[in-house]
Amino acid sequence: MHKSFDLFFVSSNANKYHEAKNILDSFGINLGFLKSDLDEIQSNSLHDIAIFKAKNAFSKFKKPIIIEDDGLFIDNLHGFPGPYSSYVFKTIGNKGILNLLNNNRKAKFVSIITYCDKTILESFEGKLCGKISKTEQGKNWGYDPIFIPNNSKKTFAEIKNKNEISHRYKALKKFSKWYLHK
Ligand code: IMP
Repeated sequence: MHKSFDLFFVSSNANKYHEAKNILDSFGINLGFLKSDLDEIQSNSLHDIAIFKAKNAFSKFKKPIIIEDDGLFIDNLHGFPGPYSSYVFKTIGNKGILNLLNNNRKAKFVSIITYCDKTILESFEGKLCGKISKTEQGKNWGYDPIFIPNNSKKTFAEIKNKNEISHRYKALKKFSKWYLHK
């Protein structure tokens, strides 16, 4: 049943998968989805979290997989929420983040994509700088309504080309280059 897929994206977040699939389709890689809530370690390093998740996903499914770990790093909050972005989104959410900020609104999104199969474990990083909007603008998942990428006046939730510029796109572009030549 899974024969036509080149590899699988393991995550509990279908939004991430749809974006990753759209991006990898453009590089000619056919990405399947294994929906799964993977255990996560607590760490200050997205890389360490991603490696743990990838090993865990491979041992669970025994197929070539990629996983993704992301963080939103806000300058004025010394990089918070960073590796805690998922927990902070679930607790205080976008409104809570907006309440913490004043003039300096610079932020960046970071994505780590980690590939794992029987013999290889390899990570790829994508970063996108921008700022946090003053109010929520547009409707989409996660922090999309409050993140304005550099060179844009609109949030991720309002722009049409998110998948051509995002942190996810940048990490997956590096991954694709490597994957297609390995
Ligand atoms: P994690 O990698 O699942 O731990 O995600 C970290 C947090 O960042 C989650 O709360 C996601 O909703 C959020 N996040 C990651 N990437 C994006 C994005 O592209 N748009 C909006 N929120 C994102």
